[in-house]
Amino acid sequence: KLKIVTIGGGSSYTPELVEGFINRYEQLPLSELWLVDVEAGKEKLEIVGEMAKRMVKAAGLPIEVHLTLDRREALKDADFVTTQMRVGLLDARILDERIPLSHGLIGQETNGAGGIFKALRTVPVILEIVEDMKELCPDAWLVNFTNPAGMVTEAVLRYGNWDKVIGLCNIPVNAVYQETELLGEQLGDVFFQFAGINHLHWHTAVDKNGVDRTQELIKKMYGNDENQSIVANIKDNSLIYEQVENLEMIPCPYHNYYYYTDKMLAEELEDFKANGTRAEKVKQIEHELFELYKDPNLDYKPQQLAERGGARYSEAACEVINSIYNDTRKVMTVSTRNNGTIKDLPDESAVEVTCMMTGNGPVPFNFGHFSPKQRGLLQVMKSMEELTLEAAVTGDRGTLLQAFTMNPLITSGDVAKQVMDEMLEAHKQYLPAF
Ligand code: G6P
Ligand code: MN
Repeated sequence: KLKIVTIGGGSSYTPELVEGFINRYEQLPLSELWLVDVEAGKEKLEIVGEMAKRMVKAAGLPIEVHLTLDRREALKDADFVTTQMRVGLLDARILDERIPLSHGLIGQETNGAGGIFKALRTVPVILEIVEDMKELCPDAWLVNFTNPAGMVTEAVLRYGNWDKVIGLCNIPVNAVYQETELLGEQLGDVFFQFAGINHLHWHTAVDKNGVDRTQELIKKMYGNDENQSIVANIKDNSLIYEQVENLEMIPCPYHNYYYYTDKMLAEELEDFKANGTRAEKVKQIEHELFELYKDPNLDYKPQQLAERGGARYSEAACEVINSIYNDTRKVMTVSTRNNGTIKDLPDESAVEVTCMMTGNGPVPFNFGHFSPKQRGLLQVMKSMEELTLEAAVTGDRGTLLQAFTMNPLITSGDVAKQVMDEMLEAHKQYLPAF
């Protein structure tokens, strides 16, 4: 018997996950899938849950799909727990994006002030889930997709004292697909090594003949005007070519916020005037998706889900589970405990690095030291994350202000304090520690 529990099961991404489990059924014979949500997400859970049941039925598979608001009932004897909940739902994300923007700062779900507050809301909930797991399914793996995925993973490691956790993001897998194709190679023939932290990592590419193809990729990706981003939520990927060439590693799409803050802010403001924030756009997309999911004849994942930024999310999540279950030793990039993989960061930190996925979990490929070109920003951001987590568990405003002041996307001084206070007030119902 194989039991998987998905917390935040009412998400519009659930069909993506279910499709992944259906496609892998032969290797991963899932017997029970439990979709869990909270009262506020009940309606969505029912709609998407019924859709999941239809998908399984259409595939002719004996997977039981259970829908529940009782997390503890679901967690009992689980083998894997995946988390994709959004504390405060999209309305909280709207505030995360709008408040900083109204002070002239980047308003983004996982970066800047918005990312910090998403962490503050999520940490208490993930730590409660871990406590339940200790009691109800002490051998299970926790596979977390909830953002900010790196900080949430580190919270579980440092404050939950739970090692069997893996943080997931779809950026690395999308980069691997896109760049393998750009090089005209076959999937699996190029070794991509990623290192850094979630939404702030760099990578290199070496082909099967041992030839380093990183500069070739940089030229193809940044050396012309048609720079395609790999995810739907970040439009543009046009950094200054000389800078990326000099980095000697390929940055992730979120680096745009740090390497080209002024341009990203100008674009965001323009977008905001025309369409509101990304969260508001996502709300609209979600509404349309749920209208489709309501159709009792729809039993497959609709094309429109591709408008969300989470492409290949299920590829990442289902492959991680499959790899652990079958000890496939597949090469994947995930957030895990550093343990010396990146020498410039603490051992206890969560890092996003390329690993061999074994039956015992991820085994990272050694990385070593970064050049100062990456090291400074990486260490600043990791310290910022540590302070954010400390603030999340202690409720200490001074510590939180340090995180704000250190974050490169937040102006220091009065602006930092004003934005912080405004956000603390706006989100207070989700911040029990403050
Ligand atoms: C990317 C990131 C995810 C993030 C998503 C946002 O895929 O890797 O971590 O959740 O974009 O997409 P959305 O459609 O919600 O703006
Ligand atoms: Mn991500």
